Amino acid sequence: MNSAAEDFDRWIRNDFVALNTRLEEAYFAAGTQILHGRPELETVKRRIGREGAELVLRAAEGGSTPSPRPTPSVRPILSTPLLPSMPTGDDERYELLGLVGFYLAACRRHEIDGPQSAAWPLAQLLASSLGVAPRFVFAHQALYNRAVGDTFRTFTSLADERAFILYNGLSVLAYQRTATALRRIAALGVSSPLTAYLLREARSGLDDVLDLGRTLGKTLDVDRFFLNIRPYFKPHRVGGTQYRGVNAGDFAAINSIDVLLGLCSPYDPFYQALLTEKYPYTPPEDQALLRATATAEPLLDAFLRETAAGPLTPQLRDNTELFLTVCRLHGAASAFHHHRLVVPFLQEPAARVPQDQEPEAADLTTSGPPLHVVMGTLARLVDLRTARRRPGADGGARTALDQLRHALDAAPDTHLKPAPTST
Ligand code: HEM
Repeated sequence: MNSAAEDFDRWIRNDFVALNTRLEEAYFAAGTQILHGRPELETVKRRIGREGAELVLRAAEGGSTPSPRPTPSVRPILSTPLLPSMPTGDDERYELLGLVGFYLAACRRHEIDGPQSAAWPLAQLLASSLGVAPRFVFAHQALYNRAVGDTFRTFTSLADERAFILYNGLSVLAYQRTATALRRIAALGVSSPLTAYLLREARSGLDDVLDLGRTLGKTLDVDRFFLNIRPYFKPHRVGGTQYRGVNAGDFAAINSIDVLLGLCSPYDPFYQALLTEKYPYTPPEDQALLRATATAEPLLDAFLRETAAGPLTPQLRDNTELFLTVCRLHGAASAFHHHRLVVPFLQEPAARVPQDQEPEAADLTTSGPPLHVVMGTLARLVDLRTARRRPGADGGARTALDQLRHALDAAPDTHLKPAPTST
């Protein structure tokens, strides 16, 4: 980072946090998502807008001496010498985009309009060089967020925000561990003893996802989440385009797991639309992993083929049982997300918002559609991942999973014997 970008980073980690926290405490005390017309709070909002815009412009110019810019305005890319100071490393540019994105998301959250447009050209240039959306996404908060003195970047100093980012980020790492293990199985075959190791690794990753979700559900305060954390994830405009908000699902591993297990198919138009929509909101390396789902052979198909070909050898039996456990855990984690996180932390508090304060649909969901539509999409994903039969739906992988279970039950018990222990 150039020295101006470092100044911007320092501001994001210090003054920006203090200013946002001051506003959040006032909103929380009033039991509302935002307050307007209170002079002392309007001064704080103006400071965020003005100071952030000045620092972004300096970062775009590559650390030149600060010049007074009382009223920053939109500057066309070509008139600004952005390129000479542009970091050449992808990771560095992605991190800088995250910094700019933090500022833009806070402006949207506090409904600060005007100065933030000064940050659009830099956001757009960084994003187009990386092939991603020109806004802050979940990966900037969870996975591309360098800690300094034990502290990663947050919008506020609220303990609930830290917990939300921490447990979400750890859950993504656990999903990534599972996906990495599952991706390696194709090269080994489903009856390999090494595959048993990888399936145990996948199982352990999903156990962690469930544990972390439970901890998050117990730690996070519903009102704090609803009033002070969620509002930073809203959709907003960059240049002439409205970009959808942030969600913790914007990473490829969850989809690699869906498709590799055989619970969801990239050829299902419903699922394909979800994959296509999320590309620009994932980090560049995740986009390649999302593309790879189109050609991956589902492990469910490989297990069905080999168990049907027979005989059901001890290793194949053990691996099949482990595989079915991994499928069950993936469904359980998805059901937990829906019933124990989305419902209590979003759907229920949204239903309590008084009619006259009803926020726009786009204020409640990150993807834009009304909440009931997003809930319907999430419920359908839970059905696919749990392979649940519902009236009017085809039950996804249920028939194939039952067939695999039946192949195990019908064959003689050929479990691997535990290795003898020396006495
Ligand atoms: C309080 C906690 C959470 C709430 C309220 C929540 C809420 C939501 C909502 C509303 C969506 C749909 C976004 C939209 O389209 O508007 C979503 C998507 C998603 N969330 Fe969460 N979430 C929470 C925690 C987590 C955690 C810990 C994870 C684990 C990594 C996670 C993973 C996902 C995934 C993967 C998606 C994309 C849809 C899917 O593939 O299932 N979420 N979440």
